[in-house]
Formats: sequence, structure tokens, C-alpha cells
Amino acid sequence: HSVGIIGAPFSKGQPRDGVEKGPDLIRAAGLVEKLKAQGCAVRDYGNVTFEEVANDEPIGNVKRPRAVGSANQRLSAAVHAVKNDGHTCVMLGGDHSLAIGSIQGHAAAKKDLSVVWVDAHADINTPLTSPTGNIHGQPMSYLIHELQSKIPVLPNFSWIKPCVSAKDIVYIGLRDVDPEEHHILKLLGIKVYSMTEVDRLGIAKVMEETCDYIFSKVKKPIHLSYDIDALDPSISPATGTPVVGGLTYREGIYITEHISQTGLLSAVDMVEVNPKRGRTDDEISSTVNAAVDLIRGCFGKLREGNHPADYKMP
Ligand code: ARG
Ligand code: MN
Ligand code: MN
Repeated sequence: HSVGIIGAPFSKGQPRDGVEKGPDLIRAAGLVEKLKAQGCAVRDYGNVTFEEVANDEPIGNVKRPRAVGSANQRLSAAVHAVKNDGHTCVMLGGDHSLAIGSIQGHAAAKKDLSVVWVDAHADINTPLTSPTGNIHGQPMSYLIHELQSKIPVLPNFSWIKPCVSAKDIVYIGLRDVDPEEHHILKLLGIKVYSMTEVDRLGIAKVMEETCDYIFSKVKKPIHLSYDIDALDPSISPATGTPVVGGLTYREGIYITEHISQTGLLSAVDMVEVNPKRGRTDDEISSTVNAAVDLIRGCFGKLREGNHPADYKMP
């Protein structure tokens, strides 16, 4: 695997401080070294820098639209460059509003993606349905072709070109979906494996069906957008919007192992790690280490063990 890492230390898609520390914490937990040790070629592109936006007044209900629009435009260019260099892109957030730039930059290099969105939340509110006005609860709405007639003009958002079809999206792990979001998911017929389906089918069947679904016509590159709050808060408590009843560590890892084995993983987001939301050092390290392990699972690490193809027994 050839991996390109981009940090996006950005938090203005939601109100809580600390999530901008995610990229450097995940690196400090040894991400690059661990990926190299499992045989990956890794290039760390460092952190994207974001412009200060003065007078970022809400537009209707939507908070900090100019800062979020501008940050995502820069991230999009950075992800596009990593893809053009031929790597699988790993975007370390930051809050989940960054999926706008990550998916947009990925689509600019690879047009026609499928998106696997692993999250407690659907993050598909439009600016007009959002109960909170936080853009981290809205990123999918800006990207889906079928929703564009419902998206008002926002400052610094005009560069966004919708790039994903509703039929190319699978959600896994949902358990906190707003009524307006639920309506959108049903209206567009989007494939959802909520925690109910994870309970009913088991994670192995969920992943088998997920891949059957996204590969049913052509094999498109996969964008995996992984919100750490998909995992149960007993494993990843250091996040802004934890929700009880989440994926176990094993289910979370299984998703990455399965996606890795498709050979089609083209970009990964790992978002919403917020050390300031951990109450103890253990809560923080458990969350950060889970993020690192999930990324390792994306790049071939197997729980059965691995060995290099050219290994010679002494
Ligand atoms: N649905 C809520 C909202 O629209 C919560 C979203 C949480 N999103 C997240 N990326 N953690 O604000
Ligand atoms: Mn979430
Ligand atoms: Mn999310």
C-alpha cells in the first residue's frame, strides 16, 4: 500500500474546542511508524493550514459557513494532490464537516466514487433542516446530486460540485438520526445498516452486503469516511457527540479489514477525535489508539497476523 497522510486541524464545523488536535495526536500515537512496520510506503503531507475568517456571521441557522467553506476548499486541493501522486489518501480530522473537502478532492481525481460512511450520525442535514446549524451534521447534503435543489447558496461554498449519487452511498452504525435526516434517507433510498441491522445480521453479513451493493454495477473506488463516534463510547469516549450503543472495537476493525480486502479503498477520513472531551488520559488514549488501529486495518493489518511476501525463514 502507498499511503498519503493529510492532517486537517479544523473544528469550526461544530462548537467544541479540541477536535483540531486530532491529527497531531493520531500521529503522536505512532501512525506513520506503525503503517511502515506493516509494509506500507507512507508519505506524510503534514497539516493543511486554514485562513482566519473575520465576521463569519451565521447564514440562517448555519454556523461559520465562510470558515468551513474556505477550509474545505483548501483540504479539497490537498486531497486532490495526494490522489494525483498515486496514494490512498488518509485525512485526519478535525470535525466531520471536512468530509466535504475530502470527498470533493477525491472525486476531482477519481470521479465516480462509492462512499461508505461509518458513523452514529447520518450527517445529511441540509442547511434548512439542520436542528443545530453545525456543518459537521450536514456534509453529505452538499455532495449528493439528488439534494442540490434543496441547498441554498452559502458564502465560500460555490466551489463545491456535487459528486456522489444516492445509490453509491452506504451508511453503517447509525443510531442518532434526526427526523429530517431520516426523511432524506428514505426519500433518496439510501442504503443504511443502522445498529439494528448490525444486531440482526452481524457485522460480517453487513459488510458482505455492503460490498455486493456498491459493486453491483461497476467497481468504483471507495471513499471510507469513518467518524470515531461510530464506535461505542466505552472505546472512544473522547469525541464531541458520543452516542451509547455503538460498534464494538471488533466490529469497527472488521469493517476496515473487509474494506481493505476489496483492494478498492482509495481514501479514508478519520474524524471527530477530540482529546478535550476525554475525562481521563485513559479515555483519550483509548480513543486515539482505536483511530490508529482502524487506519491500520484499512491497510492490510490482519488480526490473524501478517508476514512479508518475501519472508525467508532462518
Ligand atoms: N444530527 C446532529 C446535527 O445535525 C448531530 C451531528 C453530529 N455529527 C458528527 N459529525 N458528529 O447537528
Ligand atoms: Mn457522528
Ligand atoms: Mn459524523
